[in-house]
This record gives sequence, structure tokens and C-alpha cells, in this order.
Amino acid sequence: MKILAVNGSPTKKKGMTHLLLNLFLEGAAEAGAEVEQFNVADKKIRYCDGCFNCWVRTPGECIHKDDMPEILEQVAASDVLILATPLYVDGMTAQMKTFTDRIIPLVEPEFEMVDGHYRHKSRISKIPSLFLMSVCGFWEMDNFDGLVDHVKRICKNFQADYAGELLRPNSYILAMEDLLPKEVAAIHEAVRQAGREFVTDGKISEATMAGAVAQPIPKEPALDGSNMFWAECRKQGKFLFHHRDLPA
Ligand SMILES: Cc1cc2nc3c(=O)[nH]c(=O)nc-3n(C[C@H](O)[C@H](O)[C@H](O)COP(=O)(O)O)c2cc1C
Repeated sequence: MKILAVNGSPTKKKGMTHLLLNLFLEGAAEAGAEVEQFNVADKKIRYCDGCFNCWVRTPGECIHKDDMPEILEQVAASDVLILATPLYVDGMTAQMKTFTDRIIPLVEPEFEMVDGHYRHKSRISKIPSLFLMSVCGFWEMDNFDGLVDHVKRICKNFQADYAGELLRPNSYILAMEDLLPKEVAAIHEAVRQAGREFVTDGKISEATMAGAVAQPIPKEPALDGSNMFWAECRKQGKFLFHHRDLPA
């Protein structure tokens, strides 16, 4: 299985998206997958201009001379495309949305009817299945509902399979190994295991998923803890989870 993972977080290696994605890919690679990943924020990817040149004038080719043509070749050669994005204002990041808009050269402009619904035909033999990975700051799983729905719709639009999801609310627990070493190690191992199971079984078991989304601190105390954390960040004038000073 060839997996291409796209990290849409602007915080790149400092972020929880990176942490979650890397653990998952570690497990996937252990189970035999060929994995590649990149950060959208490291690439030159311009906004789609909506000119439709990639459909009519130069089919399959965008007017922008940036990093996307090479990335589209990687996408076309993959079995699974992981979209890893933090939740930003209840959706994917602008970086990830820009990336998904720029996938349209891989489909043809003509419609076909599938189950009574207009869909685009693929220009390549098969658009890879999409697997969604996301983190968010709030506690509840339902914060991801809009994003999950969006990615499932992208799959239908492009006639790709939806390969599943791994969603981690209360994201910063992933980096709390100093405070909760055993609990955080168990979450990390469950995420690695999720990667292994995805490759070997094509899905993640309920037990593994429960481990990956475990909440070691109950909801109300966690809320108080979060607010204490933000108060400390304000006091120090920096966001403490990134382990670095923010640019002035
Ligand atoms: C602009 C912005 C918008 C956000 N919107 C939401 C949101 O709607 N819901 C939520 O639960 N968390 C939200 N968050 C929190 C992020 O999802 C969380 O901080 C996540 O860990 C960021 O990803 P990263 O760690 O890879 O940088 C937002 C953060 C930012 C910076």
C-alpha cells in the first residue's frame, strides 16, 4: 500500500497534527506500507484561480507554475491520500483547502450520473482513497462532524473511496508526556496501532480507536487545567505547547 500524507497544519513539526500523523505513519510503515508525507506550508501552492484552463485549454495542467504538478503525480501514484488537518473554525485549514481545490486537474469537466447524482469522471485510472486525520482543541468528538461530512463529500465529488478517519479532540494531551507519561504513551501506542491496523485490515478496531481518543483527565478538571494553561501562556507571552518562542 502506497500512502501519501498531506499535513495542512501551518505549525508543521511543532504541531499536534504532525505528532498524530507521524505516530500513525510509523505504525503504517511497520505494517509494510510505503509512506511519504509533506507539509502544505513548505510547498509553493497557489490558490485556484477558477479559470478552468486545466479542464479546457491545457487538460490536466494548471496555469500556475508551482509545486502542484509534481504533487499531483505523487497523488496519482498513491493508493491512499491522508488529509491531515487541524480543525480551524470548524473546518480544514486554508492550506488544506487550497490543496484540495488544486486537485481538480485530476478529474474531467464532464459529468456522469452516479446513483442519481452528478459526479466528475476521473482523468487518472483511480483517485486514491481519502483518509482523514484531524486534531482540535475542544473536547467533544462532534466538533469534527462538519469536517468529516466535507471530506466524505469530496470523496463523492471525485468518486474516491472514503478510507476512514482518526480524529483527536483535546489535541494537546498528545504532548503532555511530562504530566501524564503512562497515559500519553498509551495514546501514542494506540495511534501507532491504528496505522498498523489500517494497513493490515483496512480499518481501525474499536478498541484501538478508543485508546487513541482516550481522555485521561475528566472533562471539567481538564477545562480548568486548560484555562490555567492559557493564563500561564499569557503570563509568559508565548504558546507553551510549541516549545518555542513565537515570532515577535
Ligand atoms: C485559527 C484557529 C482556529 C481554530 N478553530 C478551532 C475550532 O473551531 N474548534 C476546535 O476545537 N479547535 C480549534 N482550534 C484549535 C486547533 O484545532 C488546535 O490548536 C490544534 O492542535 C492545532 O493544530 P496543530 O497543533 O497542528 O497546530 C483552532 C486554532 C486556530 C489557530
